[in-house]
Amino acid sequence: MTQDELKTLVGQAALQYVTPGTIVGVGTGSTVDKFIDALAASGMQIAGAVSSSVRSTERMKALGIRVFEAGEVESLPVYIDGADEIDHGGHMIKGGGAALTREKIVADLAQRFVCIADESKLVRTLGKFPLPVEVIPMATAQIARRFAALGGEARLREGVTTDNGCQILDVRGLQIVDPSGFEAEVSQWPGVVTVGVFARNRASVCLLGTAEGVRTLD
Ligand code: 5RP
Repeated sequence: MTQDELKTLVGQAALQYVTPGTIVGVGTGSTVDKFIDALAASGMQIAGAVSSSVRSTERMKALGIRVFEAGEVESLPVYIDGADEIDHGGHMIKGGGAALTREKIVADLAQRFVCIADESKLVRTLGKFPLPVEVIPMATAQIARRFAALGGEARLREGVTTDNGCQILDVRGLQIVDPSGFEAEVSQWPGVVTVGVFARNRASVCLLGTAEGVRTLD
């Protein structure tokens, strides 16, 4: 199966975690696009969705799915999103699509995070994928120096401004052996908007697309 077919498989499989009549948290990316398409094609009646990006909002609206603002809901039963890397504990690196801040906000509203990914995303230790960090532009150089002190090489993602008007640093060369401690530490550096390690908001379930079918990690 191609990577695209694996994404279709897990996008479809995620439907079993959606309860008709509820509001669903929806992430961002090519795998989530498959989930949105599967949801629309299924004919399942949901109340609507809270979206983590302009990209997903536009796709859902085009397919007739009502989109609520995050501030309109107190909690969500489930949040469905992809990942750039996920470990066996459900900790993730996210932000390849630059939507990490809104993704973390919507994930934080949810009782359950269902991660959908092809099996290439499963790793033993987070850090091979360059870690996205959303930063306030005036702090970019200072934050890059802090990462250098940890052995990381931070590069500005050229030509990208986030949905929040900020910049993205991609940090190579890190081995994130303690995702919770790392997230807590980097999150409090001045100028960091969001670090792309999702440990506090880790996945409760991961649906991995493999050649043998969907493998569920929970
Ligand atoms: C966007 C994300 C995505 O979930 C992540 O990049 C995975 O994307 P894809 O499903 O296209 O591989 O974190 O900010």
